Amino acid sequence: MKLLVCGGAGFIGSTFVRQRLLEHGDEVTVLDKLTYAGREENFHDFAENPSFRFERGAIEDAPAVAKAIEQAAPEAIVNFAAETHVDRSIAEPDAFVKTHALGTYVLLEAARAAELRYLQVSTDEVYGSIDSGSFTEQSPLRPSSPYSATKTGADLLVQSYFHTFGLQAVICRGSNNYGPYQYPEKLIPLMILNALHGDALPVYGDGMQVRNWIHATDFARAIGHVLEHGVAGEVYNAGGPDEETNIKVVKRIIAAAGASESQIEHVADRPGHDKRYSLSSEKVRALGWSARVRFADGLDETVAWYRENSWWWEPIRSGDYRAYYERQYGRSLA
Ligand code: NAD
Ligand code: TYD
Repeated sequence: MKLLVCGGAGFIGSTFVRQRLLEHGDEVTVLDKLTYAGREENFHDFAENPSFRFERGAIEDAPAVAKAIEQAAPEAIVNFAAETHVDRSIAEPDAFVKTHALGTYVLLEAARAAELRYLQVSTDEVYGSIDSGSFTEQSPLRPSSPYSATKTGADLLVQSYFHTFGLQAVICRGSNNYGPYQYPEKLIPLMILNALHGDALPVYGDGMQVRNWIHATDFARAIGHVLEHGVAGEVYNAGGPDEETNIKVVKRIIAAAGASESQIEHVADRPGHDKRYSLSSEKVRALGWSARVRFADGLDETVAWYRENSWWWEPIRSGDYRAYYERQYGRSLA
């Protein structure tokens, strides 16, 4: 396939691009604004692939989107582009509204004009928190943070373009992703790097919140699968095979990194913190997808990847991320 992948310089987007180039022989153009989370380093092993092209640009910039479509001549747009960190959406929501509302609108208009298939990458957070059981695609949308509320708005706009204009659009909602190339503001890479450096491990509240973990390679395969086999107008959930409390995740990381549990520090809870996420993936399984990586294996491999790839995270940990960390946690990194 010929694909335009928006937000392909980020964690999951670059994982998807790698799979499509190397495992499917697709032609891929990435359109990415390169925010703090988007990095050309994520292209390191496929940057020279003749089937790969990169355009720097924002999805809310209609001329940049038109130019990328003209150059890529894609059959489909896959949209990963987003602001993705809940804590940043609480501190500074503006970019979330702009990218998710305006950016998604610009992409939908472009897909409609060029009659392209469209896949919106979304999240389990649109359903809100669930105490027991799992969310299905029929569950009501009850987002609780500015991140999840603006992602929900984008999903609803995508569905309106299917219903109103017949756009061949599908939505794929993932649970919490982890794996190599994840920016260290998120729980797992933050705890791995802090554990390796002897920094405190800041657990929000009691650490009893539960997340449903999926390896990014599994989510990327689900997105490819939905792109190829999903029915237009439908939503597909892709959840990971395992759920775990945050405190247990942190303790597993401590063991794998050879750190000490005395590094754990319970800090003030996140405002409006969702207690538990859990996704039912029956519908995408019926399409023929299933997760391959169990959390215990994937987490050990992820700790090993961060240990062995300091070239990837050193520029982040010595750059703007330090100032972010000080603002968010009120202390400096080692
Ligand atoms: P990320 O933060 O690592 O990457 C986001 C990418 O989007 C970056 O490359 C950034 O430069 C780019 N971007 C941001 N705003 C842009 C704009 N206006 N125009 C063009 N590019 C822009 O994010 P991620 O974790 O890879 O998430 C990718 C997608 O998957 C998002 O839509 C997110 O909501 C969704 N998702 C993430 C998770 C998770 O656990 N990380 C789970 C489910 C769904
Ligand atoms: P995060 O990786 O931000 O993903 P999300 O909020 O989208 O699920 O956080 C995962 C869980 O870890 C969430 O319950 C918040 C918690 N958390 C901490 O306890 N400490 C931290 O420093 C971070 C970043 C997250």
